[in-house]
Amino acid sequence: MTAQVLDGKKLAQSVRLGLKQKIAAFPQIPGLAVIIAGNNPASEIYVRSKAKACRETGIIPYTYRLPADTSADELLSLIQKLNASPEINGILVQLPLPAHLDTTQILGAVTPEKDVDGFHPLNAGLVVQKQAGAFLPCTPKGIIRLLRQTGKDLNGLNAVVVGRSQIVGLPAAHLLLNENCTVTVAHSRTRGLASLCRSADILVAAVGKPEFITRDFIKPGAIIIDVGINRTPDGLKGDVCFSEAIETASYITPVPGGVGPMTIAMLLENTCEAFLKQHRP
Ligand code: GUN
Repeated sequence: MTAQVLDGKKLAQSVRLGLKQKIAAFPQIPGLAVIIAGNNPASEIYVRSKAKACRETGIIPYTYRLPADTSADELLSLIQKLNASPEINGILVQLPLPAHLDTTQILGAVTPEKDVDGFHPLNAGLVVQKQAGAFLPCTPKGIIRLLRQTGKDLNGLNAVVVGRSQIVGLPAAHLLLNENCTVTVAHSRTRGLASLCRSADILVAAVGKPEFITRDFIKPGAIIIDVGINRTPDGLKGDVCFSEAIETASYITPVPGGVGPMTIAMLLENTCEAFLKQHRP
C-alpha cells in the first residue's frame, strides 16, 4: 500500500483564505500580540512566520521581544497591559520560556478570553470536560482538521499519541477522545512501544526525535500524523521515517507541509474567534 499524503499546506491555505475574507468584513482590524523572551533560534523562526501569516490574513501582529534575563514581574506586567488593551484580541507567549521563568505562572496570567494558544488552565479544563467555548490549542486542533480531511469515520478508531506534552500530546489525546476515538497516550516510560503503536488506526507522533517511528511501529492502513520538526544535519526531519511509513500507512502528513502550516492556520482562526467573542453584542 502507498499512503496518500495529507497536504497540510494546501488545507491551511484554504482555511487562511476563508479567514481573510471573514476578517475583511470586521468593523476593526484584529490584533495578535506575540511575546518572545530570549533568543531561541527555532522560536525566532516560528514567531516570524506567525507574524507574516497574520499580515497576510488581515491581522496586525504586535511582536514583543524581551531579553533572556527578563524578570517574571516584567513579563507579567506586559501581559496585564495586553490583557487590558482593546487593540489586542489574542495573546501568544512563545514557548519555551527561559528556564528561570515559571511557564505555568506566565501562561496562567493571560486572560482566558485572549488565550488563542489554548494553554490557560480554564481553556484546557473546558476541553477535558468537553464543554463548548474553549480556545483549542493550535497543533491538536490542526491535527483533528487533517484527520477529518481523510473523510474517514473516526468513531471507535484506536488512536495512539506518542508524547504527553502540555502543548501537543496531552491536548491531542483529549481532542481525539472528544471525536470518540479510543485513546492511548504513550511516553518515554511506555513499555512495548512498537507493539502498542502497531495497534493504532491513528498514530500521532509528537516525540521530538527524528525518524523515531519506523515501519515496525505502523499497522498496515494506519493514518500517521507527524508532529515532529527536527532540525538535523540532513535537513528538517519529522518524528516518522517517511519513506518507510508511506509504504505501510493509508494516510501520512509530510514534514514540512503537514501539521506545521495547520498550527499557524489554527492560530489565525483562534484570533478571529477571539475578536468575535470580544465584539459580541
Ligand atoms: N512552541 C512550540 N509550539 C508552540 C505553540 O504552539 N505555541 C507557543 N506559544 N509556543 C510554542
